Amino acid sequence: MTELRVRDVTEADLPAILRIRARSFGPLPDGGDRWWRRVADETLGGRMLAVVDGDDRVLASGRARPFEQVWGGRHQPMGGVAGVYVDPVARGRGVASLLMRGLLARMAELGDAISCLFPTAPGLYRGVGYEFGGPLPRFTYAAQDLRGLRSLSGGLRPRPAGPDDAELLHALMRTEQERGRVSGPRLPGPESWRVQLADDETIANVHDGRGSGPRGFVTYSLADETLKVDDLVADNGEAAAALWSVVGSGSSAAPTVQAHLDPRDPVALIAGAEAKHDVEQHLWMLRIIDLPRAVAARGFSPALATTVHLAVDDPDLPANSGTWRLEVSGGSARATPVERPLPAEGPLSVEGPVAVDRPPARLGPRGLAALWCGWPMPRLRQAGLVTGGNPEDDCALDAVFSGAPYMTEYF
Ligand SMILES: CC(C)(COP(=O)(O)OP(=O)(O)OC[C@H]1O[C@@H](n2cnc3c(N)ncnc32)[C@H](O)[C@@H]1OP(=O)(O)O)[C@@H](O)C(=O)NCCC(=O)NCCS
Repeated sequence: MTELRVRDVTEADLPAILRIRARSFGPLPDGGDRWWRRVADETLGGRMLAVVDGDDRVLASGRARPFEQVWGGRHQPMGGVAGVYVDPVARGRGVASLLMRGLLARMAELGDAISCLFPTAPGLYRGVGYEFGGPLPRFTYAAQDLRGLRSLSGGLRPRPAGPDDAELLHALMRTEQERGRVSGPRLPGPESWRVQLADDETIANVHDGRGSGPRGFVTYSLADETLKVDDLVADNGEAAAALWSVVGSGSSAAPTVQAHLDPRDPVALIAGAEAKHDVEQHLWMLRIIDLPRAVAARGFSPALATTVHLAVDDPDLPANSGTWRLEVSGGSARATPVERPLPAEGPLSVEGPVAVDRPPARLGPRGLAALWCGWPMPRLRQAGLVTGGNPEDDCALDAVFSGAPYMTEYF
């Protein structure tokens, strides 16, 4: 197992990678070849990497999908890591860890500020700096209860939507995520809406409002007597009631509605009965790829004005290491290095005025990821992910990163 190296995947590698995938997760399900082609097209040429041995035999592969994700109501590039698998004969020797380090470096080169993934082996991802960020919560409503929302809809009926509405759905979702200062969900691009809206199984409706322009949309599907809502966006109560009631109108044949939602989705405040919160929920993990870029691109509470220091040790992405001054005001923030370690363990180089009046809290990439996702500092201390610092700075950091991010789809 010497001479392992990480290189870009080429078209010619795909059959070998598909074989490794089959040995990891079984054969592709019916229709899976279309999905496989789509994700390959999306990631070949820079975002799909392989570990190969001295004979250039592929032992492992993984990809970082080019996603956009919302944090504090502002959007930033996120590398969605998926399709990580190692040939069974090569496992247990650090191959996946090597692959992940290759993906981290590549995401940094390509400008991804953060990365997220759904883990099957959290230890693997913790080893390279990821930590649990939040849930993908699934809620179940009785379709009948949603049908009853019709009475709140103001009598307006949504219209069917098709591929020509792709740009509109993209714009409506972007606006809703910005206005709601949402953290966690992806923002699919117009092209992926076009694909979804062209899919025969997708049912889609737009709520055109009362001459004031479109107010929202819903995309959902029906299988096994269950209505599955993919996305529902509504900018007022009437539109929400109209869209949910269209889904619920299927209650005579499909008594159950499932949806991945913000636990604080306003439907909980208007539905006539509470949702069943499915016990099973996936957790996703996050890693900061480029700290100053991620901070600059995130939205923060406009009510907050504070400056706090933070020391980061990130051996896999050393550009994140050092002591950072975090200045937050007017809904934005910036992270400025005040002390950076020199390469090769040299003395500290000072790039800015050293204004650290007390020792800052010190975190590794896992602690930084969890803090970013709203884990309170006392909890991080209990988990051993922070050292140093002081109670005042802890309170400031909690206020800066407070929130409960969630995702609404698996990738
Ligand atoms: C999970 C998988 C990618 C690990 O590959 P690998 O090359 O053996 O991983 P590494 O040797 O780099 O292991 C690093 C860490 O990952 C974790 N890990 C590895 N295999 C694991 C397993 N089967 N279960 C739980 N954790 C595991 C361990 O924490 C390990 O550290 P340790 O060796 O110090 O205990 C590989 O077993 C695989 O392809 N499995 C099937 C597909 C899969 O689950 N992919 C992950 C999708 S998110």
